[in-house]
Amino acid sequence: MQNSFSQPNSVEIVSNISNENVSKRARVREHVNPLAKKYSVAIAPPVWTETYVDWSKPLSLDIGSARGRYILQMAQLKPDWNFLGLEIREPLVDRCNEVRDELGLTNLHYIFCNANVSLAGLLTKGSLHEVTIQFPDPWFKRRQQKRRAVQPELVATLAELLVTDAPIFLQSDIFEVAEDMRQHFDANESFINLAGAGSFADENTFPEHIPTERENSVISQGLPIYRAYFKRK
Ligand SMILES: C[S@@+](CC[C@H](N)C(=O)[O-])C[C@H]1O[C@@H](n2cnc3c(N)ncnc32)[C@H](O)[C@@H]1O
Repeated sequence: MQNSFSQPNSVEIVSNISNENVSKRARVREHVNPLAKKYSVAIAPPVWTETYVDWSKPLSLDIGSARGRYILQMAQLKPDWNFLGLEIREPLVDRCNEVRDELGLTNLHYIFCNANVSLAGLLTKGSLHEVTIQFPDPWFKRRQQKRRAVQPELVATLAELLVTDAPIFLQSDIFEVAEDMRQHFDANESFINLAGAGSFADENTFPEHIPTERENSVISQGLPIYRAYFKRK
């Protein structure tokens, strides 16, 4: 299976989705509680053939796309892929789709939803070719850890949707969060950890890639990043 994640090239791309307009319209909360009642209802899937100009392209999913810059860049670098961002903070999604339209990108879409609630009904079995979950909200307190996006049910849903050999790229700067994500994928027998079960990926295993916003910030602070690279068996 090919992957869209690696081999950044030197195409000139727009990377900056300003959130200026977002904050003028609505306050963007720093975190929302995904277990709150208002995020508990699954959304209906869009008509995918109307959402993307060419729905037959492989689909890369970014869970927790936030201000959307990572897939904004990827969609420009990899026009032969479709990119989908799921994000629970609605004003960010609205702004991302506006920028997508301003740039005329037809292989990029952002959806406001709770990925844990909506993902299973959004896509069909075998329609997904790659997943990235990068720097998810950490929810440090033990009693809040069930708010973390990567839960066994989400991993099981991804196992259903992903095609054989599809790559899954996971990153966090918080060791406990990265370990929690890695353990959930290690525990699901549909996935293989390319660094070996129980291990994080090193720079030889994890491909070179476009950094996310959070990743850039972590790198600039000189902090460690814990990465895992799985494949759907
Ligand atoms: C710390 S940010 C990381 C953003 C981006 N991936 C990056 O690396 O720069 C995590 C994002 O995930 C979103 N998020 C958290 N739980 C979610 C859920 N259940 N469904 C969809 N998005 C979620 C948050 O609103 C936030 O924008």
